Amino acid sequence: MSIFAWKDTHNPQPMERRGKEQLITLGKIRDKRGNLSVIEDTKLLPFNIARTYWVYDVPGGESRGGHAYYKSEEFIMALSGSFDLHLHDGEEERIYHLDRCNRGVYVPAGTWIHMKNFATNSIALVISSTPYSPKDYIRSFDHFIQLKRENAL
Ligand code: TYD
Repeated sequence: MSIFAWKDTHNPQPMERRGKEQLITLGKIRDKRGNLSVIEDTKLLPFNIARTYWVYDVPGGESRGGHAYYKSEEFIMALSGSFDLHLHDGEEERIYHLDRCNRGVYVPAGTWIHMKNFATNSIALVISSTPYSPKDYIRSFDHFIQLKRENAL
């Protein structure tokens, strides 16, 4: 898996394999007054940003997600606290422990997404390539696996 790092420059590198998830480290503009990171549309992510949402007030140990999307691509990070991002590509599951506000994961469409084990007071930030549509959701894991096996996803 490739890890992309801005380090302290504004010179992000292009994503290598769009079909795969990628851990992305954002640049950090260091300042004694507090650090700053930025995501500027397609300069970092391989999609145009259509929607941003965040999940908060999650009770400690709780889980969110448990679905895949037909079309939506996402970038997911912990703006505060931590959680485990479980991603299944139809063949295997990979787990990312997200606990920094300058590191997240690009998640392509057709990936089973589960956010588990939230620490109390965590905030999950999600940037999406599409407007919200309930029709874009696959909510059954068995159906997801079936679509993957049929190459329909
Ligand atoms: P859902 O995506 O199921 O949450 P999670 O997968 O994180 O557990 O969304 C929960 C509710 O919020 C559901 O009723 C749909 C609504 N919702 C919107 O209205 N707009 C959005 O952009 C999102 C992500 C959810």
